[in-house]
Amino acid sequence: MTSALRQPQPDLISIAPFRGPFHRKRRNRLMRANERGAFRLAQAKASGEWGRLLAAVPGLADTDASLLTGRLQRLYAAYTSQVSEAMMAASLSACVTALQLVKATGAKRVADLGSGFSSVAFRALLADPAFQLWSVDDDAFWLARTGSFLSKRSLRQDGLMVWQDFASHGPETLDLIFHDLGDMVTRRNVLPLLWQKLAPGGVLVLDDMHKPVYRKAVQTFLATVRCDSFSLQQKTGDQWGRYDWAVIKLTV
Ligand SMILES: C[S@@+](CC[C@H](N)C(=O)[O-])C[C@H]1O[C@@H](n2cnc3c(N)ncnc32)[C@H](O)[C@@H]1O
Repeated sequence: MTSALRQPQPDLISIAPFRGPFHRKRRNRLMRANERGAFRLAQAKASGEWGRLLAAVPGLADTDASLLTGRLQRLYAAYTSQVSEAMMAASLSACVTALQLVKATGAKRVADLGSGFSSVAFRALLADPAFQLWSVDDDAFWLARTGSFLSKRSLRQDGLMVWQDFASHGPETLDLIFHDLGDMVTRRNVLPLLWQKLAPGGVLVLDDMHKPVYRKAVQTFLATVRCDSFSLQQKTGDQWGRYDWAVIKLTV
């Protein structure tokens, strides 16, 4: 193991010489630069599956999970108290990690299946119309509940679709898919179609990979396609043991 002393240190700049009101702006600028340096160092030291994903998606090191979490916390509290219990909704950390991947990969065509807090999170933080969004459900009742929550919060409501419409005339190509649709059998069965819609280099985020039967079925499917998969357990593990995987579609 590399000694801590031999690990690269961020270029921390001393702010000591810049005391007094005259240097306030410069001091603040240097402090912000130091914070960025320390943040990058922490990311660079990440190990395990997250470290492997950072190597595959270098832009991830520049995304700040705590910033995204802070921006979603109130919506998460509202959604899980007014619409759906937390155990049924995607976790905050799962949505934040998916959003980090959107930012890091430059994904512009993004879908979440099934609808719910994941739809709220994407629509709150990807409000720019440059992002094309779809939120999909195989249950019209839950899709309507998602639509109503979005409407009350004045969040964008375009691209809400029932699964049948999405499958038959939805988008042909997507850059990132957050997959949390319906029951676990449905979820396994729709994988080939989702894979077909995923652009080369695109990312499929799979929720609920803690379920052994589903995980095995996913692994069997992934063995038939060209991909690189990463467990996000370090980042998305929650109190119910749930965690996600990220799967990158390799170019052929
Ligand atoms: C795990 S949920 C999807 C959760 C969604 N991605 C979210 O972040 O809230 C899977 C499916 O269950 C249904 N569903 C959503 N919320 C539910 C709830 N509170 N109780 C029962 N079913 C629910 C929807 O039809 C959805 O497609």
